[in-house]
Amino acid sequence: MELLSIHQIISKMIQIPKGILAADESTPTIERRFAAFGIDCTPETRRFYRELLFTAPDIEKYLSGVILFEETLDQQTIDGVYFAEFLLNRGILPGIKVDQGTQFLVPGSEEKITKGLDDLAERLSVYKSKGAFFTKWRAVISIGKDMPTERCILENASFLAKYAKIVQEFQMVPIIEPEVLMDGDHDIQRCAQVTYKTLKTVFQEIEREKVDLTGIILKPNMVLPGKVSNEQTSSDEIAKATLSCLKSVVPSEVPGIMFLSGGQDSNQAIENLAKMNKEKNLPWRLSFSYSRALQFPVMETWRGLEENVKSAQEVFVNILKKASDASIGVWGAKG
Ligand code: G3H
Repeated sequence: MELLSIHQIISKMIQIPKGILAADESTPTIERRFAAFGIDCTPETRRFYRELLFTAPDIEKYLSGVILFEETLDQQTIDGVYFAEFLLNRGILPGIKVDQGTQFLVPGSEEKITKGLDDLAERLSVYKSKGAFFTKWRAVISIGKDMPTERCILENASFLAKYAKIVQEFQMVPIIEPEVLMDGDHDIQRCAQVTYKTLKTVFQEIEREKVDLTGIILKPNMVLPGKVSNEQTSSDEIAKATLSCLKSVVPSEVPGIMFLSGGQDSNQAIENLAKMNKEKNLPWRLSFSYSRALQFPVMETWRGLEENVKSAQEVFVNILKKASDASIGVWGAKG
């Protein structure tokens, strides 16, 4: 396997005009997503679907990396090539989700803390030997009545920083994903306050753990009103609020910020990114690391049927092209 330093991995991950595909849905998550389109969920349908994504034509023009789930790291193409090797041969770096989901922060609370630190080091050496170059850990912060609590933000931020430190010790790149959820009826200002507080705490903890800021990728939410808020917000306002929050809290040494889509529809997530990238001379590369915004239209076209594979791949490549354009500030180009 190719040996790359942390900074070599980073420079590949933030290549212009590319982004990252998050295809790391855990089994229960992909089961839920498949069910919405009437698709059976078995190890073989999951393998087949991931092969549909990874073999789509030209994806290496738009993707620098793909985040995999553990099961997929052990799966192969129909021709018997491990997916990690297959992607690398296409010039796309494979990465791996290393958190092990969430549990309640304390009994009776609605807030969550992410699990998976205990045996992380042992797992990382296995993932690395199977071809992963980078990793992802997602923490979730909810907005609601009396939420988020200081404790929830601090404990999640501390785990993110500890995770990042361990990953860098393995010469891999940690993607740090503190996600402030869109669920709720809060307005954009509330999301901005909570996102600021969360990121501020994450960077304090990163400093405490002496994580190398030049060797991480941040994967934040955009600053948006809650999903059931009555507020109408334009992509210009979202871009402005998100950039203003990030500029006030993300150190300029961080090389890349690659957003999650968080339940926004594809066009909205892509247009918002394009609007942010209209601003030139930002200190960090701004791109995408979407799951739902890139994949829902693909699942909707595929629906588990062999005869739909080609059109589903076309849909996928078209969305990737739009997201890639957005990563250089272009929106609405004719495809
Ligand atoms: O953990 C979540 C993924 O990394 C991003 O997913 O784009 O659907 O929010 P999303």
